[in-house]
Amino acid sequence: MNEVTITIDGLQITAKEGTTVLQAALDNGLYIPSLCNHPDLVPAGLCRVCIVKMDDWKIAISCKLPVKEGMVISTEDPEVQQIRKNTVELLIANHPMTCLTCESDSNCELQRVAHYVGVTPDSLKRYRRSVRSIPMDTSNPFFDIDPSKCIMCGICVRTCDELQNINAIDYGLRGVNSIITTLGNKPIADSRCESCGECVVRCPVAALAPKNTLQPMREVKSVCTYCGVGCGVLLGVRGDKIVGVRGDKENPVNKGSLCVKGRYGYKFINHPDRLKTPLVKKNGELVEASWEEALNRIEEEFSQHKGDQFAALASARITNEDNYLIQKFTRAVMETNNIDHCARL
Ligand code: SF4
Ligand code: SF4
Ligand code: SF4
Ligand code: FES
Repeated sequence: MNEVTITIDGLQITAKEGTTVLQAALDNGLYIPSLCNHPDLVPAGLCRVCIVKMDDWKIAISCKLPVKEGMVISTEDPEVQQIRKNTVELLIANHPMTCLTCESDSNCELQRVAHYVGVTPDSLKRYRRSVRSIPMDTSNPFFDIDPSKCIMCGICVRTCDELQNINAIDYGLRGVNSIITTLGNKPIADSRCESCGECVVRCPVAALAPKNTLQPMREVKSVCTYCGVGCGVLLGVRGDKIVGVRGDKENPVNKGSLCVKGRYGYKFINHPDRLKTPLVKKNGELVEASWEEALNRIEEEFSQHKGDQFAALASARITNEDNYLIQKFTRAVMETNNIDHCARL
């Protein structure tokens, strides 16, 4: 693809033809405030915060403005500054001011944009309205929905549609009453939502927020243990406990995406019922045993249960070579074709 040269605030940058001005700026380390843009999604042009002025004095939203050779763009023109500040002030007019106790504090795009465009308590006064009183939807076991914090950027709706192809949520009602909701305005737990959390991780504010999370003190790169896809994960660790999981964007398998199991099903790791040693049945009860004792018992029992009274279930989380050995062992040693694999479930 051809490259074009454009100028943003006096700086010349190059960008691939077909890129938007916003993406070209971000790719070159230049910040243009935006709220409804996400690199994984088709630009929707909803928030109007990313406006810039072109050399013909027209104002345009940079997330939908394709780059053109020789284009000259201003992001700091006084008119641009005034319009985007007013836009953000209107967005915040009925937003809860609970940043200190908010799930998204310090990781909130609205906070970042408000600081950047220069919103101050004084400038907010003329627009300030009471916070929308809409009940939270806490029906999902993994995340909560707080419509009073929603800025209607549509990122969640587009994520569920464009990336997940599920369409569990959409825009509902009209005007100032607009909300993100499910078909029939049912609790999200009663909708077709699969709890993948992809919308939650992209929500720029805390309108979609994971339940009961603790901030990790460090992150450890690992691989999800659930299925054969082997998604890359970043385990959030605090002390010796895992307190959260993020998809690893650098992993070529999942590029940051996760399903409900990989993202939210991590509590088994520190669960008191987790098996950490082999259990052997003695007098009808399972008791802890050494590996040597357990393997001797397996050898003893297996030799007495050859043929079709035996079946083996292999695992998607072991190597192809190990799976090959299990089927070979089942067929050649245990003399049965009763062999299956958890990836079929
Ligand atoms: S969503 Fe952002 S701006 Fe709103 S209360 Fe939370 S941290 Fe503050
Ligand atoms: S959690 Fe997944 S399925 Fe549910 S609304 Fe969000 S993106 Fe859609
Ligand atoms: S819930 Fe979050 S992602 Fe969805 S529209 Fe509201 S602010 Fe945007
Ligand atoms: S980011 Fe361009 S309109 Fe929202």
